[in-house]
Amino acid sequence: PIPVIAIDGPTASGKGTVAHRVADKLGFHYLDSGALYRLTALSALRRGTDLSDEHALAKLAEHLQCSFQGGDIILSHENVTEAIRAEEVGNTASKIATFHAVRHALLGLQLGFRKAPGVVADGRDMGSVIFPNAVLKVFLTASVAARAERRYKQLIDKGISASMEDLLMDLQARDDRDTNRTIAPLVPAEGAHVLDTSNLTADEAVAQVLQWYAA
Ligand code: CDP
Repeated sequence: PIPVIAIDGPTASGKGTVAHRVADKLGFHYLDSGALYRLTALSALRRGTDLSDEHALAKLAEHLQCSFQGGDIILSHENVTEAIRAEEVGNTASKIATFHAVRHALLGLQLGFRKAPGVVADGRDMGSVIFPNAVLKVFLTASVAARAERRYKQLIDKGISASMEDLLMDLQARDDRDTNRTIAPLVPAEGAHVLDTSNLTADEAVAQVLQWYAA
């Protein structure tokens, strides 16, 4: 069977960076499942789809015309790599991710990333729902303060001004929604190794994941 490494965790826990680097080191494919929710959210925002219309949102998700080319994310021939990272898109993604029909519509797309020689899957429910048979499951976490700090630095590095207070509020709202939803809530999958990265560099976290994989 094609190996899957599932890396789940809350927003700004560093899972994107860590999952990416682990995939590079192993020569594995990389699944950014959050991007699929963000793509659906961006589509909905642009079309003015009613964000409470589960059926319409699921239809959008099911018919997403997207592709991942190197580091670029393409939606209906447009490069939306930057556009999907907007805070509004992230917030909308976390709202529509509470709908069962939306999650179900994105299932096939996610399973399609399981290709030889292997895949590192990054998300919230990779180890619990999408790839329950993953050879390695990691739950990356970090304190709210450490995560807000990271997000702050990311934004400043991009030249975007940010308020720490707003970021903290946003982060907590997203955590609450992701943790308390009834479907695919954000909790460590059974058998997952929990890794708190509050005091770890990305390299240290990557080294730990690789060590677990090799063991
Ligand atoms: O990078 P960040 O954690 O801010 O967000 P993301 O990983 O791109 O995911 C955006 C939103 O999609 C999250 O807040 C989740 O609500 C949702 N999501 C999900 O429900 N399941 C996944 N496997 C991935 C993301």
